[in-house]
Amino acid sequence: MRTRITELLGIRCPILQGGMAWVAEQHLAAAVSAAGGLGLIGGANAPGEAVRGMVRSARELTDKPVGVNVMLMSPHAADVARVVIEEHVPVITTGAGIPDRYIKDWKAAGIRVIPVVASVAQARIMERLGADAVIAEGTESGGHIGETTTMALLPQVADAVRIPVIGAGGIADGRGMLAAFALGAEAVQLGTRFVASKEAVVSDAYKERILAAKDIDSTVTGRRIGHPVRSLRNEMTREYLKLEEAGRSPEELEALTLGTLRRAVQDGDIKKGTVMAGQCAGLIREIKPCAEIIRDIMEEFRLLAEKVAAYE
Ligand SMILES: Cc1cc2nc3c(=O)[nH]c(=O)nc-3n(C[C@H](O)[C@H](O)[C@H](O)COP(=O)(O)O)c2cc1C
Repeated sequence: MRTRITELLGIRCPILQGGMAWVAEQHLAAAVSAAGGLGLIGGANAPGEAVRGMVRSARELTDKPVGVNVMLMSPHAADVARVVIEEHVPVITTGAGIPDRYIKDWKAAGIRVIPVVASVAQARIMERLGADAVIAEGTESGGHIGETTTMALLPQVADAVRIPVIGAGGIADGRGMLAAFALGAEAVQLGTRFVASKEAVVSDAYKERILAAKDIDSTVTGRRIGHPVRSLRNEMTREYLKLEEAGRSPEELEALTLGTLRRAVQDGDIKKGTVMAGQCAGLIREIKPCAEIIRDIMEEFRLLAEKVAAYE
């Protein structure tokens, strides 16, 4: 299947795996890339050398391209920005900000730069800065979110920019992918679906919690302090929302979530940890290998596209 994104990234299937903090390490990213999509290593708050290690390990697992998500708010962002050039990483996605300090050097190094955006204004800024594409991420997503839904955001971003657009947020199967394409996407990025994959190095408890999730099981913490995060409801989110409602300070609230994603991912503490996942968790019923996830999505996408085309 060919779109401007598959051409740009040299991939077979227009499916990206989100560069997720603590989740997207070399095993997951390599499995997605080997299966024909684009795997991304989540730089998150990791130091440059840790990211270098993951990039090199991924290369031992697959000869297909693997990208890196650079979290611009990380204290190590500048360090990671340099390491990705030294390691000749072919694709970078960025989150939590505008990559104006780095984009010139990345482009000069031949790197494809694809920022995540949550609004039309952000998409326009990224295009002006020279981004190769943008990921329009709706509020249905797991993790840090904006306010506009994928359904409303994606076509408005697609209308506003000339560069190709990747849709993200709430997509877990071929139906979601076809909808995103109808709204103007030329590829999709999935997060939650790949957390519940065989290759994700994530505690069984976390994966099982996603499988057990219902449509209304996610909630958003941090809205009042301007850092909204979507995760599955548990003791931690209840406590957080109570304190948020009581008007506690941003410092107090942030202290409550410090290290809690790692606790859920690695220690399996799904009660007090942060179980980041999107609204599409309710669609996920089975832990599957990444190759199967991608194959099933592509198959369903094609069958449904034919069905829709046959309507008179
Ligand atoms: C556990 C988890 C961690 C995430 N961490 C990051 C991150 O560090 N940087 C980023 O740009 N996006 C992050 N995201 C967002 C994903 O990359 C992706 O865009 C999003 O999950 C798509 O929505 P979906 O979960 O509905 O598929 C994270 C998502 C999850 C579920």
